[in-house]
Amino acid sequence: MMTAEPQADDIRRAAERLAQGGLVAFPTETVYGLGADAENPAAIARIYAAKGRPSDHPVIVHLAPGADLAYWACNIPDEAHALVRAFWPGPLTLILPRAPGIPDAVSGGQDTIGLRCPSHPVAQALLRSFAGLKGGQGGVAAPSANKFGQVSPTQAAHVRNEFPELGASDLMVLEGGPSQVGIESTIVDLSRLDQGRGPVLLRPGHITAHDLAAVLGVVPARPDAAAPRVSGSLKAHYAPRTPLLLAERAGIDAIVANAAHCGERVAVAAFEPFRPLVGVDALPSGVTWVQCATDAGEYARHLYALLRRLDEGGYERIVLERPPVTPVWQAVNDRLGRAAAAFE
Ligand code: TXA
Ligand code: MG
Repeated sequence: MMTAEPQADDIRRAAERLAQGGLVAFPTETVYGLGADAENPAAIARIYAAKGRPSDHPVIVHLAPGADLAYWACNIPDEAHALVRAFWPGPLTLILPRAPGIPDAVSGGQDTIGLRCPSHPVAQALLRSFAGLKGGQGGVAAPSANKFGQVSPTQAAHVRNEFPELGASDLMVLEGGPSQVGIESTIVDLSRLDQGRGPVLLRPGHITAHDLAAVLGVVPARPDAAAPRVSGSLKAHYAPRTPLLLAERAGIDAIVANAAHCGERVAVAAFEPFRPLVGVDALPSGVTWVQCATDAGEYARHLYALLRRLDEGGYERIVLERPPVTPVWQAVNDRLGRAAAAFE
């Protein structure tokens, strides 16, 4: 098991594994990815099998810095180049028309392709090494390294826990420390600009609609029925196994008061510390209280590790205090809403 940052040797072995059609999980600044050669349909089928994901869901292709977009996409609008200049390497995925030579397995049969250049140094080293083995233009298809519908991994240990059935010979996991962004990349669709349809924000993330608007000159629209499908946009997604509820602070107080009387085991994540309630002087023994960051970026960085930790605590419920409904919290609110929707 690899626990130290990977050395050049490990990176080369991982790249060779990819070139042979194998799976390699690797760190990115957003979440860990489950990677395979983007141009090898059999390798991509291994991703779907490991995740238990329907095979008509497209996968993001990860590229080394400086990769040639035109190898992967066609009819590339100026807007794409402008976003690449502003935000790559970084947590932004662009959806573009797929180049004719790229197998459609990676796009789940759609005529588009999702491209992203991650900023994590281990991801970049792997992508460079792999592209070298492929003669310069390799890309690594990688969804988040979790079972379909589950919480994305932000640490190498999360990945190993997620795939206990895969041994070291089936899946190599590169260590890269905790992911610094902590939630999945922003996805913007630029595939239909030539049809008069402006940029569409398919998935909010650390790079906000406001950040994109500053480069594009227009605020990206919300998805409509004709927009490409995004599995992360299914209503119930990113869910822990323990029932999860979002509540205002008053609702949390009521749940804690109730737990004091009936002994419910509940985990609470709130923005302020516990304060005594009428008839409840101290935190009831069955209640775990976690105080969360009030900064949206900091909150996002720790969110998935927190959900995994609480999920393992054997609680009957996890209750999260609802964050403010403001633009900086949009991505977090999106993920929390989907996680809670799984239990509605
Ligand atoms: O931050 C991230 O984006 C992470 C890291 C590993 O890079 N990856 C990630 O992948 O979140 P995944 O598969 O869990 O989510 C990618 C989303 C999916 O909802 C998929 O439907 C969408 O991107 N997507 C990928 N290619 C697409 C395409 N050609 N058209 C529309 N949506 C696409
Ligand atoms: Mg995912």
